[in-house]
Amino acid sequence: MSNDDMKKAVARAALEYLDEYDMLIGMGTGSTVNHFIDLLSTVKSRVDAVVSSSEATTAKLKAHGFHVKDLNQTGDILLYFDGADECDAHNRLIKGGGGALTREKVLAEAAEKFICLIDETKRVDILGGFPLPVEVIPMARSLVARKLVALGGQPVFRQGFVTDNGNEIIDVKNLTITDPISLEQQINAISGVVSNGLFARRGADITLIADSQGQVTTQK
Ligand code: 5RP
Repeated sequence: MSNDDMKKAVARAALEYLDEYDMLIGMGTGSTVNHFIDLLSTVKSRVDAVVSSSEATTAKLKAHGFHVKDLNQTGDILLYFDGADECDAHNRLIKGGGGALTREKVLAEAAEKFICLIDETKRVDILGGFPLPVEVIPMARSLVARKLVALGGQPVFRQGFVTDNGNEIIDVKNLTITDPISLEQQINAISGVVSNGLFARRGADITLIADSQGQVTTQK
């Protein structure tokens, strides 16, 4: 089974978490979430409105006819569905491969339950194999990069990429992340950092993991 087929399998399994009608849900960003949105459009009556984590997700939701609401209008969200780039045994994540990490983090924070959808290739023992995305305001890019070197990382500027918030992304390679909560806080404390892709303080509540046979297991 291809990676994309595993993403479809986990997206299908996630539909079972819509256990009420007229729900307000939050939606992440990426190819796994795109499969989930396609499937969700077949059970649209279960969804009253969706709060979106990116312009790309908003466009896809609207194309399917979903009602997209601003978080400032809604208050807290019951369920938040999103993918990830890496996930450890404690549902701590690296996210932001698609550059939507800041809004994703806001929605994860606002959600009662965060359901993460991955394929088995993303399940790791120690986070850091995937370069850690850090969103920075443009004028602070070099300063933040030097501070990230001091933390032991190798920062690489994501060329030609501007986030939905008008900022830039530094991808940090070579981090062996043994204490994700502490590193998340340390990076967030650097002036000029908007947020980073470690979702450790607020990780997922449940991670659904599809394997190469299409079986989906639940990690709580
Ligand atoms: C976007 C993200 C995505 O969830 C992450 O990159 C996984 O994407 P995909 O489902 O395409 O593999 O964090 O900012």
